[in-house]
Amino acid sequence: MAEVVNYKDLGLVNSRELFRQAVSGGYAIPAYNFNNLEQLQAIITACAETSSPVILQVSKGARSYANETMLRFMAMGAVRMAREMGSEIPIVLHLDHGDSFETCKSCIESGFSSVMIDGSHLPYEENVALTRKVVEYAHQYDVTVEGELGVLAGIEDDVVAEHSTYTQPEEVEDFVSKTGVDSLAISIGTSHGAFKFKVKEGEEPPPLRFDILAECEKRIPGFPIVLHGASSVVQEYVELINKYGGKMEGAVGVSEDQLRRAAASAVCKINIDSDGRLAVTAKIREYLANDPGEFDPRKYLGAARKELIKLIKHKNEAVLGSAGRAK
Ligand code: 13P
Repeated sequence: MAEVVNYKDLGLVNSRELFRQAVSGGYAIPAYNFNNLEQLQAIITACAETSSPVILQVSKGARSYANETMLRFMAMGAVRMAREMGSEIPIVLHLDHGDSFETCKSCIESGFSSVMIDGSHLPYEENVALTRKVVEYAHQYDVTVEGELGVLAGIEDDVVAEHSTYTQPEEVEDFVSKTGVDSLAISIGTSHGAFKFKVKEGEEPPPLRFDILAECEKRIPGFPIVLHGASSVVQEYVELINKYGGKMEGAVGVSEDQLRRAAASAVCKINIDSDGRLAVTAKIREYLANDPGEFDPRKYLGAARKELIKLIKHKNEAVLGSAGRAK
């Protein structure tokens, strides 16, 4: 059997106390996805420099891309790097969209401090049973668990759904009490990926369903709620990508105003993956278009990393409100 590693020995924390503080403080903890060294360096640098707690988020696809052992050591390295920058920010290592009990168990045994079990596509009772099983296992190791009710449309690595289904507020109380989850992802109109809404030129995307969020909050007061699919799809990056040979017409995301409003409510975790991908792609395209003879990856990946740091600082400071909250 593979060696079992406890996240506490890696210097990581679970999300429980972070969410408690975020809900009472009216801000959200950022959950940034990463797959490689430069993304991780950027997340840690930006969060250390803004004194923000952070959730390092890994999808099943990222785990197979980067290698699970490598990822664990990268997370350890991230903790050390933050300390050496003189910053004691709390760092969570979280599995995004765990698709089975086995995947969650394997992550818990390899040092994750938090896992998501996504049974949202299953019939309600099966979602309850699967989530309950993961919670029972995870809580033995003091690992926190995120569940999901309602389905988000869009594509996120292996998770694909054509249509969204809003969360039914009348289910949330029963789900939370039967499963024992620590946080709940809900569907209020966001979707995964860079093409979140179909809007005509000059039209605004539809607002999120804050009425559903308010109904959920009423039924489970103070309980941590998670928002997936929360990239803004920064238009500056989409324009750079299209200008330098890319093809991303019609890419659109959630406005920062909507995210600020969500962060001030019981939404205490906001998931951001696509914006990071866009920043990296835009800067690499720009760099190589302007300097076609360059072949040192440190040059174009360095430019991408620098942009990612800028983006993450902006999100922490001006959108999620997590800057200065590391305790
Ligand atoms: P975005 O595609 O909007 O970045 O959402 C990411 C996400 O929800 C990860 O679970």
